[in-house]
Amino acid sequence: MSIVKKYQLVGMLVAALLLSACEKIPPDYRAPVTLPLYTEGDADNGALIYKDACGQCHQLNPGLNKKGPQLMNIYGAPAAKLADYTYSEGLKASGWVWDAQTLDTYIADAEKAMPDSKMLADPMPDAKERADVIAYLSTLRAAAPIVENDK
Ligand code: HEC
Repeated sequence: MSIVKKYQLVGMLVAALLLSACEKIPPDYRAPVTLPLYTEGDADNGALIYKDACGQCHQLNPGLNKKGPQLMNIYGAPAAKLADYTYSEGLKASGWVWDAQTLDTYIADAEKAMPDSKMLADPMPDAKERADVIAYLSTLRAAAPIVENDK
């Protein structure tokens, strides 16, 4: 291989590396929750139900999306806004805001609420269980991470 060809190859490799570095989307997060706690359900019981019914697909830390997006600060947040998660077209176009009402409908049966849903979770027909989960979700609050611009 000629020296020119070698340099071309190295150049292409560097370009590919740079490109892949640019494509990496940094962990995204939602704005802090402003709604008051949802108190019509039992948040402690909701935490147990969440672990069982939601935890295999959802995580609570920015950047750690499993099958579903992480859910920190979900209560009161607009739907499908995390830049580092690939949502269904349906949810992206929904214009939904995750208050107690929309969460209740969605958790009850996601595929019924959103025919194009990517969330293939078992329906939760028990209204009391849903209220408990929503109460728990409303406790998930984290301040936005500090962005250090001067580094
Ligand atoms: C089998 C995996 C799975 C389970 C179980 C599951 N989810 Fe999901 N969830 C998803 C996926 C995938 C999405 C993305 C949906 C889309 O893009 O249409 C999602 C989306 C969501 C969203 C919207 C997030 C956003 O950023 O707008 C909420 C809220 C949510 N799930 C709550 C729950 C709750 C609460 C439970 C438990 C009761 C649960 N999910 C159980 C996979 C799951």
